[in-house]
Amino acid sequence: METVTAPVTAGFPTRRLRRLRRTEALRRLVRETRLAPSDLIYPLFVVHGQGVRQEVAAMPGVARLSPDLAAAEAEEAFALGLGGVLLFGLPASKDPLGSEAYADDGVVQQAVRAIKRAVPDLLVITDVCLCEYTDHGHCGVVRDGVVDNDQTLDLLARTAVSQAAAGADVVAPSDMMDGRVGAIRAALDRAGFTETAILAYSAKYASAFYGPFREAADSAPRFGDRRSYQMDPANAREALQEIALDIQEGADMIMVKPALAYLDVIARARQAFGLPIAAYNVSGEYSMVKAAARAGWLDEQRVVMEILTAIKRAGADIIITYHAKEAARWLLARKD
Ligand code: PBG
Repeated sequence: METVTAPVTAGFPTRRLRRLRRTEALRRLVRETRLAPSDLIYPLFVVHGQGVRQEVAAMPGVARLSPDLAAAEAEEAFALGLGGVLLFGLPASKDPLGSEAYADDGVVQQAVRAIKRAVPDLLVITDVCLCEYTDHGHCGVVRDGVVDNDQTLDLLARTAVSQAAAGADVVAPSDMMDGRVGAIRAALDRAGFTETAILAYSAKYASAFYGPFREAADSAPRFGDRRSYQMDPANAREALQEIALDIQEGADMIMVKPALAYLDVIARARQAFGLPIAAYNVSGEYSMVKAAARAGWLDEQRVVMEILTAIKRAGADIIITYHAKEAARWLLARKD
């Protein structure tokens, strides 16, 4: 991807870079980055029930859906050629150990089955985390006010196994506990799910851009914040260490999250590692664009395409985005 520019022997007026920008045909010919619907993963929030659709106020166009409606949405995602869906669940009730996360009849497990029945060929990724399921809203087991790393690993592993058993193609741990990729890989293999892939949220920052998601998933921590497990936004070298460890532990794909404020981290990860890299264009990034577009301050289509292209240009192979369906429609309507 990184190419060295040959020494320029002749400058202006011989060399005119505007020549190749003159017409759309030329611009299209020399375009370095192209988006396709198959690059995009569409997140879905699932709730218990049937025929349930709850709009998320902070994320216009996003709704919590019951498994039947999530399956309908998945059919649409497949018809648009999207790369897959990523499922988050809102449990019937929360408790200190987040037990619905690893329940066989948990809402995500139900949704995976419903989607796989409706569209067997659509890629289904499940978020592995406890924060939507715990009454305290943290991503792990809390002991004496502290999120206990090693006690959490077993619950995460059980969650991943139950999602794989429901039919998930890929499990995506987003909790940021140390050692979770290894624990999940071992548990999946022990349970016979050697072919279930792991997309590790390796470089996940403690970001204010997750604000609207926490409304959608009802997952805001009831005390404190996530800075003792998610990364400090100031650190990039540490991201490379997180990624290296996750690869060592068995990650098949890695992720940088959020995307826009961390394009440098995506680019550095791209240079350092050969695995597929995903970037999460998170809720706050989505809501900012929606709000400005609704106010008439931005051209939404052009801004979304520019953002997604930038994330891919930085080095991401896979983009998780709430704009996925709209972006796929725009891509299918244009000729390049
Ligand atoms: C769960 C999780 C979060 C997101 C994805 N998985 C929230 C958080 O860590 O607080 C954020 C996604 C988004 O903002 O779109 N741990």
